[in-house]
Amino acid sequence: MRRAVYPGTFDPITKGHLDILRHAAALFDEVVIAVLHNAAKAPMFDLDTRLELARDAVASFTNCRVDSFAGLLVTYYQREGFDAVIRGVRNPLDLQSEMSMAQMNESLLPDIHTLFIPSSAGFSFVSSTLVKDVAMHGGDVSNYVTPTVEQALRSVLK
Ligand code: PNS
Repeated sequence: MRRAVYPGTFDPITKGHLDILRHAAALFDEVVIAVLHNAAKAPMFDLDTRLELARDAVASFTNCRVDSFAGLLVTYYQREGFDAVIRGVRNPLDLQSEMSMAQMNESLLPDIHTLFIPSSAGFSFVSSTLVKDVAMHGGDVSNYVTPTVEQALRSVLK
C-alpha cells in the first residue's frame, strides 16, 4: 500500500489544495493531509478548526484522511512510514521555495521522496493568505474555498 503525506499549514484549506489532492489521491492508495501545529506562526484558525475544516473539505475523497503533526516533517514522515511527500506548485516562486524545502528535507532524510504537483491554471493564484485578505475586506471567496470554510471565515471575521 502506497501512502503519501500532503503537509501544510492549511489556514484554511482552499480549493487549490483540493485540486492538488485530487491528483495525489489518484496516484496513491492513501493520502494524509498533515496539518502543521505551528506555534511560531500565528494562524487565523487554531489547529482544531483547521483540522475540522480540512476533514469537511476532503470528506468526498475515500482514500484521504486528515492528521496533524508538530516538529520536523522528516521525523513525522519516518515515524508514519510514508512513501512520498506531496507539495503543490503554482508558479516559479513556489518552485524556488519548494525546491529548498525538498532539498533540506532530503539532506535531513536521504530516503524521503518529494513529488511536486503543478496546480491547475484556474487555481494558480489561489492561496490561503490571499483568500483571508479578500474575506477580511468583505470580498466573495466562494470560488476559492468550500462553503464550510467560507462560513468559518465569516464567523471569525464578523
Ligand atoms: O502550507 P505551508 O505553510 O506552505 O506548509 C509548509 C510546511 C508545513 C510544509 C513546512 O513549513 C514544514 O514542513 N514545516 C515543518 C517543520 C520542518 O520540517 N521544517 C523544515 C522543512 S524545510
